[in-house]
Amino acid sequence: MTMTLGLLLILVFLLTGVSGDTRSLFTRVGDTVSLSCTNVVYPNCSSTTWTYHRTGSQNAIEEVALGKIETNSERADRLKVGSHCSLHISDVRAEDAGKYTCQQYLSNGSQHGSDAPVHLSVLTNSLSTPVTDVKPDRPVTLRCFLYTYEGSGICSRGVTEHVSLLWVDEAGNKLKKDSRHQVTQTSDCDITLTLTLQKEDNNRKWICQLTINEKE
Ligand SMILES: *[C@@H]1O[C@H](CO)[C@@H](O)[C@H](O)[C@H]1NC(C)=O
Ligand SMILES: *[C@@H]1O[C@H](CO)[C@@H](O)[C@H](O)[C@H]1NC(C)=O
Repeated sequence: MTMTLGLLLILVFLLTGVSGDTRSLFTRVGDTVSLSCTNVVYPNCSSTTWTYHRTGSQNAIEEVALGKIETNSERADRLKVGSHCSLHISDVRAEDAGKYTCQQYLSNGSQHGSDAPVHLSVLTNSLSTPVTDVKPDRPVTLRCFLYTYEGSGICSRGVTEHVSLLWVDEAGNKLKKDSRHQVTQTSDCDITLTLTLQKEDNNRKWICQLTINEKE
């Protein structure tokens, strides 16, 4: 594979101000995330059930029952029950966004405690041109957006914590509009950078930064 004419475009996702809040969790495509269960009864997890409510879906899917991953889950190979009955998701994808609920069922069948849902949001991107096919003097569009429980690029106040997205350069400075850069933002969690690359941009990093405000 030669890329003599191409440019290497490096996209970086940065999460800042992520609090230890367990009710909403932010992650990036490709990462591994751990959702903690707050009301575990039996340490061997036999009381633990994890359900997943996918964005836009009517029904919840049971991913963990009696502390074990449902083998017929389409994500079974990426899911694991971790310490304290937490749910680990590896190689996170945008479609993993949604509401996850850990529930405890005692051996007599009754539920212990109340539901403790966690909203998982995933920072992701899309490119107008494949990353290996970027050439000088041609515009390329980089869209960075958060996939939330509400959907792609949707983050209503009050549902998700307040988030803001920015495109920054390697030095951490906000990218400004100039002859080569243009930033358009359609919502708090959906921002697009259009840029015309030049040869000296090879290996340069373009950083999409997500900042989550601390809760008051
Ligand atoms: C898990 O722990 C509970 C409570 O101590 C016990 O009743 C159950 O048999 C255990 N299950 C397994 C699979 O060890
Ligand atoms: C199940 O067991 C728990 C704890 O031992 C008890 O509080 C609850 O009332 C029981 N539920 C039923 C339906 O027997």
